[in-house]
Amino acid sequence: MPKSLTLALSKGRIYNETLPLLKALGIEPIDDPDISRKLILSTNQPDINLIIVRASNVPIYVEYGGADIGVAGKDVLLEHPKAELYEPVDLKIACCKLMTAGPINAVMKTSRLKVATKFVESTRRFYAKQGQQVEIIKLYGSMELAPLVGMADQIVDVVDTGNTLRANGLEPIKHIANISSRLIVNKASMKTKHTAIQNFIDRICHVVKEHNND
Ligand code: ATP
Ligand code: PRP
Repeated sequence: MPKSLTLALSKGRIYNETLPLLKALGIEPIDDPDISRKLILSTNQPDINLIIVRASNVPIYVEYGGADIGVAGKDVLLEHPKAELYEPVDLKIACCKLMTAGPINAVMKTSRLKVATKFVESTRRFYAKQGQQVEIIKLYGSMELAPLVGMADQIVDVVDTGNTLRANGLEPIKHIANISSRLIVNKASMKTKHTAIQNFIDRICHVVKEHNND
């Protein structure tokens, strides 16, 4: 009897982009998280379950053993630099860039910049590396609003098409990191369920390569 695996995913973009990879492995959820209120979803593989958690909570569930494996954005992982996790596969999905942004044609400020973000760790590290002192205002989303209402000079957020910035009179300024989603693995599970997890890693690596024509 194979050991069962629990995979943590977040609803929306990561779930939608992970699904085709799972399908290529022959794994298909029985319930749809957009319809069902269930947080543990069975799949057509009796030894594989999915749990649905907030994107920012995926590394926490995996680190603390609530899930054996998970899919998390690199932006989220960068906020957990000390997390005890393995990060064996770049799934090359949910790709975007972590950037600083501010109002179009903003005048250079001489006093301390106020930066609004939910990515406090990456923001702190980025401006420190630039030798720039900033005041970081922690928000939990819709960061684009902060400069519009005069609360912050800049934001740090993920950017893909740039449409959200443009729609709010903002422009990207500096590139901090390229972001994609990663497969992450609980350290204890890697030992106790080694065969099942290594098999999952090998197969998903193969699928990612095929999807990206590598
Ligand atoms: P939470 O619910 O914890 O606040 P969230 O709302 O940021 O998370 P999603 O918007 O589903 O969650 O984003 C999940 C991941 O997808 C992010 O961590 C990031 O890596 C990536 N991502 C976010 N926005 C985009 C985008 N516009 N284009 C491509 N990838 C993105
Ligand atoms: C994300 C992010 C930006 C936007 C960037 O928001 O927070 O606002 O995408 O993408 P763009 O450059 O293509 O406009 P998302 O769409 O996930 O909504 P959210 O506010 O619920 O996170």
